[in-house]
Amino acid sequence: DNKIHASINSCSHRGLPVCRADHGNAKRFVCPYHNWSYASDGSLAAVPQERKVEYKPNKSVLGLPKVPRVESYNGLIFGCLDESVEPLEQFLGNSRWYLDCLFDRFEQGVEVIGSPHKWLLSGNWKLPVENQLGDVAHAGFLHGSFMGDTDQPQILEEFGVNVVPEPGHGVSVRMMPKGTPIEQCAHGLDGFAGMDPEVIEYITDQQRRVGERLDEVRSRLRPLCYSIFPNFSFLWPNSTIRVAHPKSAGQMEYWSWWVVDKAAPDSVKEKLRLNYTYFFGPGGILEQEDSEAWMQQYVGSRIPYADQRPYYYGMGYGEESTHPELPGATGSCYNEHYAREYYLRWLEAIKQGEAK
Ligand code: FES
Ligand code: FE
Repeated sequence: DNKIHASINSCSHRGLPVCRADHGNAKRFVCPYHNWSYASDGSLAAVPQERKVEYKPNKSVLGLPKVPRVESYNGLIFGCLDESVEPLEQFLGNSRWYLDCLFDRFEQGVEVIGSPHKWLLSGNWKLPVENQLGDVAHAGFLHGSFMGDTDQPQILEEFGVNVVPEPGHGVSVRMMPKGTPIEQCAHGLDGFAGMDPEVIEYITDQQRRVGERLDEVRSRLRPLCYSIFPNFSFLWPNSTIRVAHPKSAGQMEYWSWWVVDKAAPDSVKEKLRLNYTYFFGPGGILEQEDSEAWMQQYVGSRIPYADQRPYYYGMGYGEESTHPELPGATGSCYNEHYAREYYLRWLEAIKQGEAK
């Protein structure tokens, strides 16, 4: 019916998950226990045992519970368990300008390849989100073995901007000055991708069209990472979407999808997919270093007495300003305002939840 339906994956009979696939198509979700079956909109379609009894279940009220609010922006689907939350476009606010850079970049749109990679990490789910709100200051250090000898840390220092498009959301970009050659503005050539002639040609070529499709400013934008409050992130250099699922205070399940221009040739898609896997798949060189840092944060924070003083989030405090070309509050790539705003919003959400 051209609508997006999101249902809670729990059978109304005894609670089993009725869908156990990460992606695919189905007309019905059939519970494996007693085969109650649900339509794709979540309504209860059939109960095999009802013919055998007089007192029959009222199927019209026994559908799967619905996610109260579901909205879509540029192909991304967001769900919220709070029915009174503001409309999605308002919630995203200035972040839309940055999201459009990828999700509205290509004529035929983007494509997500495969099921998500999923893995468990022993750490709090907010730590990767914080990292991808704008913690690019770690790149030359934590990832020093890979980036230490490249010009990336210097480019970052020179052109890096940490943006808080709306409090709680964050974006980190390199804003290249007017007149920068097109190949130096192209995103996606980080890592091995930047060594392959076919990939270089494809990415440079599509970069030429960004100015017409979006605007001149965004044709000079080299985004690094985004996070949308509370648990959605996007890593630009390797085009991967992340969702951090809380499991407990000290454990998260991390989901990662890889995204590509739908119209890219298959050979380019395959090279970019491998590039993603090498760097930010669960065994990727950079992903492992980041993951280890988040897990060690949790280890260090749990040492007795460690939490008797607050950690330092003051870097660049009060130095935020506005940028002539970028929407939102901006600071240098070392300004930690993204994290301050994120945790303030989280605190506010907790207080509101407690007040209900
Ligand atoms: Fe699902 Fe019984 S638990 S049909
Ligand atoms: Fe990192």
